[in-house]
Amino acid sequence: MPLALQAAIEEIAANIEIPSIRTAHSELSEAYRRGEGSHFRNKDQTIAYLLARMPATYAAVFKALLDLRERLPEWTCKTLLDLGAGPGTASWAASEIFPLQTVHLFEKSFSILSLGRKLAAYSETPALKSASWSEQDLTRPFELPKADLAILSYVLAETDCTDLIQKLILQGTTLLIVEPGTPKGFSTILALRKKIVEWGAYIAAPCPHQGECPMSSWCHFPARVERTKIHKILKEGSMGYEDEKFSYLAVTPFAPPPLEGRLVEKPLKLSGHVKLTLCTKEGTCEQRTISRKQKELYRQARDAEWSSPWM
Ligand SMILES: C[S@@+](CC[C@H](N)C(=O)[O-])C[C@H]1O[C@@H](n2cnc3c(N)ncnc32)[C@H](O)[C@@H]1O
Repeated sequence: MPLALQAAIEEIAANIEIPSIRTAHSELSEAYRRGEGSHFRNKDQTIAYLLARMPATYAAVFKALLDLRERLPEWTCKTLLDLGAGPGTASWAASEIFPLQTVHLFEKSFSILSLGRKLAAYSETPALKSASWSEQDLTRPFELPKADLAILSYVLAETDCTDLIQKLILQGTTLLIVEPGTPKGFSTILALRKKIVEWGAYIAAPCPHQGECPMSSWCHFPARVERTKIHKILKEGSMGYEDEKFSYLAVTPFAPPPLEGRLVEKPLKLSGHVKLTLCTKEGTCEQRTISRKQKELYRQARDAEWSSPWM
């Protein structure tokens, strides 16, 4: 996360009582497990979200945005919509990747929105510092500003946004959806993917094709999250990092440049050869073994990671 965001979180959390934030974190986690989503009931719960979940959702959105930028080198985002913005996580990630000029955030919970606005005041990106924040339920009608990119990050598990997504697609907005990398998160994305293609948009990432998904398991990717001291305390873990697993879909109103394939599993790097699982532009899921003898390809395979594009 950018230093300005880390400093802002540290300052906001400077006087917290660890036991009460830990309780708030457990309450949030239990609510997620019960499928209730994030109904922030008190200030401690919003702070627990900043400390324990925001670093992970930030890492996932940041990684998905990097993939999108790599797929669309000629495209950029100046105007951003952050929908179900929470504390503005996706806007912070986008501000590190695109030259944002205007940012509109929509969020139904006033408590997390207020905290997000406080955080944004610390940003070094003028567009984020002066962003517009609206208290808005996404399932109710509202005026949708024109934008280059709209992001729905970890929102669809909590609310159905099908109508809103259709509106964005018909309006020609590029869209990024990020969900937890679980069978449930992926099935939400898969169901929308079919509709989105029918509505005339193109898939830019992660899929290298527009056809049916050939995966026999759920398509998901890892994003590395460095753990802070307080993160370790709240999550009762001792490792210095964790991998947030996420599923995502990025769609555009125009056809993206062709792509041979994408690694949809961690590559197995063995001595003299690398085993890859690729989703291909033909719409298949294939295992390939690249040996040292295939010089250039072997070099590419050695450097590749789970989620890398395959050229
Ligand atoms: C898990 S949080 C994700 C927040 C942020 N996008 C992120 O990636 O960190 C889900 C957010 O969606 C918001 N949300 C859920 N249903 C909503 C709705 N119908 N309208 C607007 N926001 C909603 C919640 O209040 C919460 O802030």
